[in-house]
Amino acid sequence: MVPKHIAIIMDGNGRWAKKRGLPRTAGHIKGAKNIDTIARAIKALGVKYLTIYAFSTENWSRPDDEVKKLMDLFDEYLTKALKNAEKNKMRIRVIGDKSNLEKRLQDRIKEVEEETSKYDETYLQVAFNYGSRDEITRMTKKIASDVKSGNLDVDDINEDTVSSYLDTKDIPDPDLMIRTSGEERISNYLLWQLAYAEFIFTEVPWPEFSPKNLEEAIEEFNNRNRRFGRAE
Ligand code: FPP
Repeated sequence: MVPKHIAIIMDGNGRWAKKRGLPRTAGHIKGAKNIDTIARAIKALGVKYLTIYAFSTENWSRPDDEVKKLMDLFDEYLTKALKNAEKNKMRIRVIGDKSNLEKRLQDRIKEVEEETSKYDETYLQVAFNYGSRDEITRMTKKIASDVKSGNLDVDDINEDTVSSYLDTKDIPDPDLMIRTSGEERISNYLLWQLAYAEFIFTEVPWPEFSPKNLEEAIEEFNNRNRRFGRAE
């Protein structure tokens, strides 16, 4: 059985570059290239949903030139995705706080989301300027505002309501989360959505994470006994 939705923390670009005596940004360039390779492999395996962590709300504290490079790579990635939309038939959605991104990025995101909204073969969610606590805070404000304006009754709020106010609304929760490059943390990623996911941590840095590594992770996922709190 393949998972329905895989979420990935693409970690280790910097370390990959440092090991080769290259600037950190070289690791990000190589890492950005790897997204397509893995997205294609995921599609070929029959996984319908993929969510990748491309820029966290904490990443603003990196050196200015690195932040700028990540913004440029994101723009390049979206531009390429737009060019290949017809071929890939992949619906793309960006999750995270878009409101304080540069205007050119906001426009590009809007263009990509609109242009790909007609596709439903596979779904890619790119988490950019994303932090789960920030998402939950924004969700809380939206719910409070709807209650205040009379559009939502407090007694009608349940888990589905909460899910429907998150950036990931309408997308099933991930059943597998993979983090590359050895760190075993969740780093403010999809805290609500990963409640029942299996976590797989691999030593392989993101720029080297291959379709074969992906298949191995799925095999491990299948070997685990998924019980969702039930007794066997
Ligand atoms: C972590 O590597 C990587 C990120 C900051 C996010 C992932 C970014 C990419 C794959 C490239 C950019 C792609 C897009 C679409 C914007 P790290 O720098 O934390 O590595 P380190 O832990 O080894 O320092």
